[in-house]
Amino acid sequence: MSFVQLEQLSKSFGHSLASAVNDVNLHLEKGEILSLLGPSGCGKTTTLRMIAGFEQPTIGKITIGGQTMYSANVSIPPEKRGIGMVFQDYALFPHLNIEKNVMFGLNKWKVRERKKRVQEVLELVGLEDCAKRFPNELSGGQQQRIALARALAPRPHVVLMDEPFSNLDASLKEKMRHDVTNILRKANTTGVIVTHDQKDAFAVSDRVVVMKDGVIQQIAEPRQMYKCPRNCFVAQFVGKTNLLDGTMCADLKHVNTHIGKVCLPEREDTMIENVKVSIRPEGCLLADEGRYSGKVENVTYSGEYQELVVRLQESDSDEETMMIYAPMEQDVVIGSAVSFDIKPELVALVD
Ligand SMILES: Nc1ncnc2c1ncn2[C@@H]1O[C@H](COP(=O)(O)OP(=O)(O)OP(=O)(O)O)[C@@H](O)[C@H]1O
Ligand SMILES: [Mg+2]
Repeated sequence: MSFVQLEQLSKSFGHSLASAVNDVNLHLEKGEILSLLGPSGCGKTTTLRMIAGFEQPTIGKITIGGQTMYSANVSIPPEKRGIGMVFQDYALFPHLNIEKNVMFGLNKWKVRERKKRVQEVLELVGLEDCAKRFPNELSGGQQQRIALARALAPRPHVVLMDEPFSNLDASLKEKMRHDVTNILRKANTTGVIVTHDQKDAFAVSDRVVVMKDGVIQQIAEPRQMYKCPRNCFVAQFVGKTNLLDGTMCADLKHVNTHIGKVCLPEREDTMIENVKVSIRPEGCLLADEGRYSGKVENVTYSGEYQELVVRLQESDSDEETMMIYAPMEQDVVIGSAVSFDIKPELVALVD
């Protein structure tokens, strides 16, 4: 039995016909870190709040560590679920110093143990020197680590974090992704992290759950999800991609598209005739005598690579262009003719 189980979990608000969360089934192993990823309004926070017990499901079952937390006839209150929550704005108490903030959930502990535990979790998040400071005397990243320390202090079974990185600037965000995963791993805590940022989700979690309109679209390890997105929505939500309509060739290893024949990666055979393929831009490699050719219509520099828009034929339709990443050192001139090959590993059949 998995450590955390959500079974057929749904939630509708008021008289709204559409479900905010619709038939979600999810299993987490102990110590696993999972991200809920999806666009605004897809039901991430609602799912998290149902696990925490702040929101009542309309239907479904929640089990943690073998104990039913919610079902048709059981509803355990939030404070008895063994859950630590980190809110998007950290929600530290401004009038309490860091030590007292972290101590907040330990009021039933003996004084000596309480002090020891505060010291322990402050060391865990690397802020043992900040115990006497107040939240407004800390940077954003430090406040976030304190919020995490406070959530971890009572030794929860599960830590839930809602958009933990959204208030941080780009470089701090990268550091915090690393720090948060390290801290959760050291504490061997099971974690669910809500984010709308694919990079957050991929960097911090063992598995990613992509949601849309309250419905799970795919659950997979980051690498697998990137290489084999199940449908067009997932392909476009986790990174950029080229989506092409095509027909399956008789050998079941190639798809005929408007750019020509595209080779598929090794996979189980699909007998469907009309298909869609997703081709990642970095799977298209400029080559002197590549199989596909076109004209460079636009170049955008990202700092790490150049994003090219290559028009394949004399046509005005956007569908006739391909997005291709080229290394920064490569000279690419707008209007020039280029040719490229496609790596089958970055091609996927999608629904
Ligand atoms: N208390 C509420 N009453 C009514 N509708 C709600 C309530 N909370 C959420 N909703 C609706 O449920 C849907 C899912 O909301 P939720 O907050 O879970 O989305 P989210 O994925 O966390 O989005 P975001 O990325 O913007 O935080 C939305 O359509 C939202 O308007
Ligand atoms: Mg939300």
